[in-house]
Amino acid sequence: MTRGVDHAAIARAVEVLAAGGLVAVPTETVYGLAADADSPAAVRAIFAAKGRPADHPLIVHVAGAEALSAWARDVPPAAHALAHAFWPGPLTLVLAKSGRAHDVVTGGQDTVGIRSPAHPWARALLAAWTAKRADAAAALAAPSANSFGRVSPTTAAHVRADLGEKPHGRVDLILDGGPCPVGIESTIVDLSGAAPRLLRPGAVTRAQIEAVLGVPLPDAGGDAPRASGRLQKHYAPRTPLELVEPARLHARVNALRGTRLAILAPPLALFDRTADIVLRLIAPAAADEYARRLYAFLHELDAAGAERILIAWPPDAPQWEAVRDRLRRAQAGGVEGFDAD
Ligand code: TXA
Ligand code: MG
Repeated sequence: MTRGVDHAAIARAVEVLAAGGLVAVPTETVYGLAADADSPAAVRAIFAAKGRPADHPLIVHVAGAEALSAWARDVPPAAHALAHAFWPGPLTLVLAKSGRAHDVVTGGQDTVGIRSPAHPWARALLAAWTAKRADAAAALAAPSANSFGRVSPTTAAHVRADLGEKPHGRVDLILDGGPCPVGIESTIVDLSGAAPRLLRPGAVTRAQIEAVLGVPLPDAGGDAPRASGRLQKHYAPRTPLELVEPARLHARVNALRGTRLAILAPPLALFDRTADIVLRLIAPAAADEYARRLYAFLHELDAAGAERILIAWPPDAPQWEAVRDRLRRAQAGGVEGFDAD
C-alpha cells in the first residue's frame, strides 16, 4: 500500500524546507508536518498552521542514532540500546536537550523528543535533507499533520481535507506516500529522569521496551513532562463517541432507539434493530490491523451523519494497549468537545 518513493517530489520538498516552508510527509505512524528543526521561524510556522499552543513540544526527526548526541546531552546507554533495537521505527526518546534544540522546538522544556522514522518517504526526505545540509544530524521538527483538536492523518487525503495545500491551504507541499502502515503515533519513552517512563503507548510495546531495558517501564505520573498527546481530550472526532463492552452493545443499541448511530464492532456483533444504524464498520480482529485503520475509521464514523458513535472495546490485553489508549482519548474528546492537539 506504501507508494514507491517519488524522488523528484523529494527534491522539491528539500527546496521547500530549505526556504523555511512546511512539508507534509508520510511516516510509518501518521503523516507529519515537517520543517527545518534548526530554523525557529520555520518551526513557528508549524504551530501557526496547526493552531497548536506554543508550549507543546515537537518531535525532532533524525536520519539515525548518530544524530542523538547533536540534539541531546548526557545521552544514557538506555537511549543507545533502544535506538539500536527499534530505530528506524515508531519509537520516540525524550532526553535532556542539547544547545542545538531551540526552545520553540521543545516548548521551552529542558528535554527534547527524538525519533528516526522507518517509512521510505520519510527516510528519503531525511537522506536528501542531511545531504543538502552536509550534516548527518540535520533534522526535521514534525508533529502529526492535523490541526489542533483533530484526528491524526494516516493518508495524504486526510491532510488535504484538514490543513490543505497552498495557495488555499496551509502546507507548502503534501507528499503522498500512500496510507501509513502503523497508523497510530509513536511510542514515547522518557529517559530524561532517574528511571524510564512510558509517556505514550504505541506500536513498540511496553513489553518490548522492558525486554531491552531490563527494568519495568511504568506510566509517567502527574509530574511528567508536558506531552499534548497525554491530554485526555485528544484524537477526538466531533460526533459524541461511546465505548461499550461487547457484551453490552446489543442492549445499548436498543436503549438508544431514535438516535442515529455509527458503529465499529467485531463481525459477530449482531443487532436486531438496525433502523438507526447509519454506518456499521467491522472491527479487525488483530491489533496491528486495527491500529493501522483506526484513524480512517474515526474519520469515516465522524462523517457518517450520526448523532452517536458506538465502538466496542477491544480486548484488555497488552498488544491492544495503544489502541485502547487512543480510543479512550477519542471518547473523552467526543463527549465533552475537543480542545486538544
Ligand atoms: O508518530 C509520531 O510520533 C508522529 C510522527 C509524525 O512522527 N508525530 C507525532 O507528533 O505524533 P505530535 O506532535 O502530534 O505528538 C508528539 C508528542 C506530543 O504529545 C508532544 O507533547 C510529545 O510528543 N513530546 C515531544 N517532545 C517532548 C518532550 N520533550 N517531552 C515530553 N513530550 C514530548
Ligand atoms: Mg498529534
